[in-house]
Amino acid sequence: MLPKLMNVPEFGAPLPAAHPSQEAVELLWRRRSTPADCMSGPGPDAETIQAILTIAARAPDHRRVVPFRFIVFEKDARARFGDVLAATFAKDNSDAEASRVEFERSRFLRAPVVVAVISSPNTGHKTPVWEQTLTAGAVCQNMLIAASAYGFAAQWITEWYAFHDDVNTALSMTADEKIAGYIYLGGANEDPKERARPVLGDIVQRYS
Ligand SMILES: Cc1cc2nc3c(=O)[nH]c(=O)nc-3n(C[C@H](O)[C@H](O)[C@H](O)COP(=O)(O)O)c2cc1C
Repeated sequence: MLPKLMNVPEFGAPLPAAHPSQEAVELLWRRRSTPADCMSGPGPDAETIQAILTIAARAPDHRRVVPFRFIVFEKDARARFGDVLAATFAKDNSDAEASRVEFERSRFLRAPVVVAVISSPNTGHKTPVWEQTLTAGAVCQNMLIAASAYGFAAQWITEWYAFHDDVNTALSMTADEKIAGYIYLGGANEDPKERARPVLGDIVQRYS
């Protein structure tokens, strides 16, 4: 059974310090990204998107700066943003074949829903920008986990357009803002396979 869509605790409500859950443990052990190329519909509906974003926004955030914001792309907006990507790509690559430009135009059509997570630091704040950046990353990861729990495939993507000033300007991003990730959400045409994982012995030391 799917989790209840919205179960937002009120401000000050008592919450458990831990949440033992075999299902959550299974999810964390087994979560895998699904390449956007392997996605299809249906995507999350409006209520589920709201729930996924609400959970994503519950990421740890030192001094409650809220150094992130979201832009949701769905339905026709994906194609309209594709026009921005195609125009930007064509301008930078005047010798590009038409088929490649069309590929760029269709990037956001790979999934029914794409969410831009924008790192939006308050540069004058006491909390270091580095910590604010980490929060934006945690938001992305929370979103992947929430999407999975609600039954959707997801992938955290940046690709070239996350780093292009013209694209960022088209999204009305300020000079201090960066794309933390584009999170593609949808169904999976095929289940992914496990990938290589870090060898814990290589990355864990005991302090002595
Ligand atoms: C910041 C960031 C940007 C990424 N950008 C891309 C990308 O542009 N294209 C891609 O194929 N994977 C990208 N990835 C990797 C995938 O999202 C995914 O994490 C990776 O394939 C490993 O799969 P897993 O999440 O199942 O462990 C990115 C990951 C991160 C954290």
